[in-house]
Amino acid sequence: MPQKTVLITGATRGIGRGIAIGFQEAGYAVFGTGRNINAHKADFSWAKEKGIELLEADVSNQTAMEEIIKKIRTSHGRLDVLINNAGIAANTPASRITPEEAQKIIDTNFKAVFQNCQAYYLAQRKEGGNIINVASVLGMVGTTLASVYSGTKGAVIAMTRSLAIEWASSGFRVNAICPGFIDTDMTGMIKKREAILAKMLEFIPQKRLGKPEDLAGAALFLASDGASYITGQTLVVDGGLTAM
Ligand code: NAI
Repeated sequence: MPQKTVLITGATRGIGRGIAIGFQEAGYAVFGTGRNINAHKADFSWAKEKGIELLEADVSNQTAMEEIIKKIRTSHGRLDVLINNAGIAANTPASRITPEEAQKIIDTNFKAVFQNCQAYYLAQRKEGGNIINVASVLGMVGTTLASVYSGTKGAVIAMTRSLAIEWASSGFRVNAICPGFIDTDMTGMIKKREAILAKMLEFIPQKRLGKPEDLAGAALFLASDGASYITGQTLVVDGGLTAM
């Protein structure tokens, strides 16, 4: 059996890194993207040691992302799994968010995800493929300071369903993962404020933030043949937060 390949956007840290390591340990040839990789090579020795190849590309740069997909297909024959993980948030009140800030979140969290799904589909259309989009529980439930972010994540969930239907007959599965509150740089602000963290933990039945590696199992399951009849679905990984 040829080694399976996976491309994970935003794999330099946090959830993307956790998923990348999980797939590497499961035997995949792992490719990840990020910004400023070439300028900070020393910071990514962990990836080199594990044989994970990090490639520099902004997710919203369509040409760069198309080139990366092409490169993987040239070297390995096919790209089995695409995981659209890269994303940004802004802890800004809805009344104060600027048009530029809103646009950047929309471009990164939604437009780039669509572009990458499309580029992957066009490249793999003969072989079929497997897409996993990292959305968020905030695409399902509301909270403060997350208006545009929540909107983009809800849009990713809705788009995932539509792409799953449109591309099912071409042998593609398209699913989403919704993390709850995971211990990464994105939630750094919360951790620094003990009172907010304590309040948040009250609402998480498992009484802890998630770890990046908690997402790897969910992604590996959706990527596996064991999930071959699952498409257009959203798998929530949140320690029970949205079960309340
Ligand atoms: P993080 O901030 O720790 O890491 C984000 C990664 O995406 C980094 O590698 C960063 O360089 C990359 N990235 C951001 N913008 C990019 C761009 N334009 N081009 C290329 N790479 C870019 O965040 P975290 O927590 O690991 O988040 C990963 C995904 O999980 C995001 O889509 C986020 O919205 C989602 N998520 C995170 C949650 C959390 O509690 N941490 C909860 C729910 C969803």
